[in-house]
Amino acid sequence: MNAQPPARLVVLVSGHGSNLQALLDACQSGAIPARIVAVFSNRPDAYGLERARQAGIPAIAVPKPRDLDRSEYDAALSGQVEACQPDWVILAGWMRILSNSFLERFPGRVVNLHPALPGAFPGTHAIQRAFEAFQQGAIQATGVMVHLVPDEGVDNGPVLGQEEVLILPEDTLETLEERIHACEHRLLVDVVRRLASSDRAV
Ligand code: GRF
Repeated sequence: MNAQPPARLVVLVSGHGSNLQALLDACQSGAIPARIVAVFSNRPDAYGLERARQAGIPAIAVPKPRDLDRSEYDAALSGQVEACQPDWVILAGWMRILSNSFLERFPGRVVNLHPALPGAFPGTHAIQRAFEAFQQGAIQATGVMVHLVPDEGVDNGPVLGQEEVLILPEDTLETLEERIHACEHRLLVDVVRRLASSDRAV
């Protein structure tokens, strides 16, 4: 039986890249039957690009030029990403909302990670907002989700995986962030493994 070639992943990051590192390590160890063929960042100083370079993977900075509007920038970016022929585009700490001029080129193939449960705390500073809601007695738990990005909605789309994270009375924002990131690393690797292992259509 012909062995299926490993799935091709393109990862988009904007910052530190600890979730990218979890994917890099899992692809390297074979835990995920895939390979990361390129990493893009809208921030040239993103440490995620350095992680890609250290792993010998093309690391491409794509800062948004002032003279391009969002849709033009996304269209240009989608061309660069498409040239890498990805099976999946993974948004791992990518802090821009992609417009349809990007998404329409990868239907059903863009996956995002968000540090909150579905429907809760969309947008930025989700961990901090959850911690504040806990301090006000509004919630007892938060979590992490991985979802498809079918349209320009913010941190909402068909959920591929989620995990609840209890908030503890003794938690500080920092200890909660640590547990959320650890949960993200596990969940993202698990979801991407499932996608890469299954037929490459969801
Ligand atoms: C993660 O918490 C992710 O969910 C959010 O941004 C953070 C990126 O972390 N969108 P890192 O750059 O992967 O360490």
